[in-house]
Amino acid sequence: MIQLAPSILSADFSRLGDSVAAIERAGAHLIHVDVMDGHFVPNISFGAAVMKSLLGKSGLPFDVHLMREEPDRYLEDFVTEQTEYITVHQEACVHLNRTIQHIKSLGVKAGVALNPATPLSTLEYCIGDIDMVLIMSVNPGFGGQKFIPSATEKVEKLRKMKEEKNPELVIEIDGGINTDNVRTVTDAGVEIVVAGSSVFGSDDVEGNVKEFLAKTGNAGRHDTRK
Ligand code: DX5
Ligand code: ZN
Repeated sequence: MIQLAPSILSADFSRLGDSVAAIERAGAHLIHVDVMDGHFVPNISFGAAVMKSLLGKSGLPFDVHLMREEPDRYLEDFVTEQTEYITVHQEACVHLNRTIQHIKSLGVKAGVALNPATPLSTLEYCIGDIDMVLIMSVNPGFGGQKFIPSATEKVEKLRKMKEEKNPELVIEIDGGINTDNVRTVTDAGVEIVVAGSSVFGSDDVEGNVKEFLAKTGNAGRHDTRK
């Protein structure tokens, strides 16, 4: 089953509680939390305090995407009863394996994100320890950018690596996904789809989520089919 993780980066920050309730009602699966530090990426978004203000506003798990340098120093801040994944960037980790183990020791699933120019081979020796790989299909830092087509080929290659080395691995994609291109990436092997501006960029947020779910062929988290 394909899961949808709307990114609250593109939501109205003055009404975040309503936004997560709306995507939950419509059947989304996760809340994608984009944390930007102004160093690793050229933009600042929000930190753990904002994420924690959403505790209990929905039952959806947090999918934390840390776009920051030295993520190890801040991992604990993002661990809550609703946190399912914490994803760090390969490019920001000098000791990636140590960081993966650190995330797991906190009782949450460990994700590793790759920028568009970073090859999959950088994960060759740790892919067996990772719960999720996040393929960036834009250069991180901003919502509303255009999808970079080479990401699809990268997903196809990652799917092969997954089959050989870690069948449990989850493949996520992030950046420039809309209802026109989502099938291309899910057909290539994506299992979690992040969508920011195409969910929150127009008024009918619930309708946008439902349109995505219809395209990916499932009825959302209310669906009991496996
Ligand atoms: C980009 C972020 C994305 C972004 C996605 O730096 O990691 O999660 O918010 O937004 P869209 O879907 O608008 O590209
Ligand atoms: Zn993201």
